Amino acid sequence: MTDRTTLKTDPLVRIRGISKHYPVGRDAFGRPSAMLRAVNDVSLDVRRGETLALVGESGCGKSTLARLMLRLIEPTAGRIVFDDDDISKLSPRKLRPYRARMQLIFQDPFASLNPRMTVGDVLDEPLRINGWPREKRRERVAQLLAMVGLRSAHAERYPHEFSGGQRQRIGIARALACGPELVVGDEPVSALDVSVQAQIINLLGDLKAQLGLTLVMIAHDLAVVRHMADRVGVMYLGELVELADTRTLFSRPRHPYTRALIEAVPLPDPHVRPERRLLEGDAPSPLSAAPGCKFATRCPLARERCHSDTPALLETGEGVNGEPQRVACHYWKEADMGAPMTTAVAQESERYRLRAKLFQARLQALEEKTATQPVA
Ligand SMILES: Nc1ncnc2c1ncn2[C@@H]1O[C@H](COP(=O)(O)OP(=O)(O)O)[C@@H](O)[C@H]1O
Ligand code: SF4
Ligand SMILES: [Mg+2]
Repeated sequence: MTDRTTLKTDPLVRIRGISKHYPVGRDAFGRPSAMLRAVNDVSLDVRRGETLALVGESGCGKSTLARLMLRLIEPTAGRIVFDDDDISKLSPRKLRPYRARMQLIFQDPFASLNPRMTVGDVLDEPLRINGWPREKRRERVAQLLAMVGLRSAHAERYPHEFSGGQRQRIGIARALACGPELVVGDEPVSALDVSVQAQIINLLGDLKAQLGLTLVMIAHDLAVVRHMADRVGVMYLGELVELADTRTLFSRPRHPYTRALIEAVPLPDPHVRPERRLLEGDAPSPLSAAPGCKFATRCPLARERCHSDTPALLETGEGVNGEPQRVACHYWKEADMGAPMTTAVAQESERYRLRAKLFQARLQALEEKTATQPVA
């Protein structure tokens, strides 16, 4: 890999044409009757030291892509290159050295843990598995607790004795135990309330800076994404439909679905219902192998070509610092806010501006909270 773009951006992870298809149902001969395309032909780089966010509706394949990236599941097709090593086909034994270098933070880190383990045991386990000598492990557990703003005495307690925010701190400490380079958060703050969210976001930001981590954040809340991410990838039905730097994505979304997502941001005022007009129409099933653009059944700009010709993710221009804005839409120029749009979308523009304003207010509130919240 010696081309100039690679040298300039120096990715930690390169994902090329990755797919994960699950066989579903059985026909009379016991063969799968259909394939569920959880992730379909996604290519993406994760650059060293960046925070890359993945967004999209529930079921669009974010968690599956995260698990593929960490090789927790095996791809149906495609390649994953971690720090220049192709890990797509490695056996569990050969994957072991990479496990400590890439970690996942879950939404509820304790859902899968033994409630009878103390926090100390929870943090000790990955160290033990990775061959840390006993005498170093105790010290490391205390260090990890301090890193996430907890006290060493907390090691003796059980997970149920902690609040949601504290539990997420423990989940983060566990993920950091063996000094990973890549940390993937699968909706790590979605279950927490806003003030606690702000603390955890602050903590992740501080740890990222201190430890030089590369972060991939899966998030529902676009205000969180906007606050944390350097770049954002938007997914729809297993595919990446837009990829850009955060500022450009929010100020100049070019895929009709990205626009719809931004316009559907929940409003701070409960009496103002968000308009979801752009998302009328049924989402096609992930079982469908129909050609064309997957968003065509809901897209106000769709026309004949969209139902037969699958749009590729192509560079449409530059954003901040020359960052390419990639979009998978035949008619992105019409969805671009600076260009004339169809009547259906144009009628929305006044409301869009109002919503954008309210979204800004929510973002500002979140930023003020993260600026004032103590981390401990
Ligand atoms: N192990 C599995 N077997 C079958 N289908 C799965 C499996 N895991 C995920 N899926 C399906 O793949 C799609 C993407 O799921 P997921 O990656 O969890 O989406 P997201 O995290 O964006 O909500 C969904 O339709 C989901 O039902
Ligand atoms: S390709 Fe067609 S259907 Fe798909 S997003 Fe673009 S305009 Fe809409
Ligand atoms: Mg998920």
